[in-house]
Amino acid sequence: MSRSLLAEVLADRTPEEIVAALPPHLRDYLPYCWEAWARPEQLLPDTARIMLLLAGRRFGKTRSAAEWVRSRVERGVARQLMIIAPTHNDLLTDMLNGPSGLITRSPPGAKPHFKTTDNTLNWPNGARAICLSAEEPERTRGKEVDTVWCDEIAAWRYGEEVWDLIPFCAGQQDMRILATTTPKPTPLVRRILATANHVVRGSTFDNSANLSAEVLAELKQKHDGTRLGRQELYAEILEDVPGALWSRGMLESARVKTCGVNLRRVVVAVDPSGGAGEDNDEQGIVAVGLGMDGHGYVLEDASCKLSPDGWGKAAVRAYVRHQADRILWERNFGGEMVEHVITTAAKELGVQVATREVKASRGKVVRAEPCAALYEQQRIHHVGSFPQLEDQLCLFTPSGEFQKSPDRADALVWAITDLMLGEHVTLGDSPVSMGTRRIDENPIDDEDEDDSQWRRR
Ligand SMILES: Nc1ncnc2c1ncn2[C@@H]1O[C@H](COP(=O)(O)OP(=O)(O)OP(=O)(O)O)[C@@H](O)[C@H]1O
Ligand SMILES: [Mg+2]
Repeated sequence: MSRSLLAEVLADRTPEEIVAALPPHLRDYLPYCWEAWARPEQLLPDTARIMLLLAGRRFGKTRSAAEWVRSRVERGVARQLMIIAPTHNDLLTDMLNGPSGLITRSPPGAKPHFKTTDNTLNWPNGARAICLSAEEPERTRGKEVDTVWCDEIAAWRYGEEVWDLIPFCAGQQDMRILATTTPKPTPLVRRILATANHVVRGSTFDNSANLSAEVLAELKQKHDGTRLGRQELYAEILEDVPGALWSRGMLESARVKTCGVNLRRVVVAVDPSGGAGEDNDEQGIVAVGLGMDGHGYVLEDASCKLSPDGWGKAAVRAYVRHQADRILWERNFGGEMVEHVITTAAKELGVQVATREVKASRGKVVRAEPCAALYEQQRIHHVGSFPQLEDQLCLFTPSGEFQKSPDRADALVWAITDLMLGEHVTLGDSPVSMGTRRIDENPIDDEDEDDSQWRRR
């Protein structure tokens, strides 16, 4: 494992001990002296036109990129920038304000200011970054920039579309593009890997010295020794799993950018179970539409890891956003509680929802197989990408050996079964929430949520 310059020079004392012993003016300066803290591979050059930092979770990808951007701005090399996050929320919480974010890592006096009115980041020296989410490819048009940082490209919903628009933003200055990501075997990741001029790869454990024992233990417990762990911790690009019901190729060949047909019905399926084990607090929430062409369109993976109030609202919001006909909920986990959570959330948001209860009488795999067959026939299309859902599908094997609890995949299977296979076990429509759907003019008025974030398309 490589070490930072500071760690090499001061081998017998921790950097924190040295910093504590410094006079105040040096102590204030040192945290911002990235050359001293960075491991050699984290110091990204200016020379490569396209750079890819492909590394495991918590490697320090965001930090390395934020420091690269900061250095270019401070040296006056970057004047017009573009920063692209998977979602607007990721932009604010990771790329700008997170522990590794650009605002956090800039020293007082040189901190950029985020302007919410036009989503730009403005430095005191006049440099300016246009901040975008990869959910809005059209906003990249007509910009002229010299520096682009794209975070978590494997999680971009319209990845290739946005990536292909970036070169059109080059002005007279040479453009430099940095993509940082935990890998997934998506066509975009493979393409960038094949064409980048400078590639850095690394594992989570390269950054062990800067991660707390709890974080490391949690990551190890969750992923070490698993197939997904090879991707998430060691940044391996995994090939298809033999025997999985879905393959990457199957998903890719039927993927569409937009849902170009009218939808006959839309359902939002909720799988609140996490089964046994450590992931048991994730809730699968997936919206699927049945097109007039008889094909299925996966519209959104709104799965989350929240309290009942939080996931109930997430499901209702998905219902409103897609003007769905039903929320399907699985009785096997939590019984009546699930419906109670959904109807309470709906009441709080001022929306009346129609729900339907489904009950698993057959095993997970038996339910999933006919859905996978529809994918094979290219009758199900993903509208954009859903990286975590797609990971679960491609690890879905009859033996279940590769993952503990594929909640997203389970929710998807419920939705497709309901819409296209007509063989769900239904316990009838909910008497509580049945009725004409009413969507208030402004149905979602929740203090802790930015409404615009929820209306993506
Ligand atoms: N060389 C370093 N010296 C000190 N701290 C570091 C160094 N590299 C990374 N870190 C710290 O390690 C933590 C993880 O870094 P970061 O958030 O950049 O990782 P990441 O790879 O983007 O993680 P994720 O996979 O969650 O997006 C942060 O607190 C960051 O500031
Ligand atoms: Mg990151």
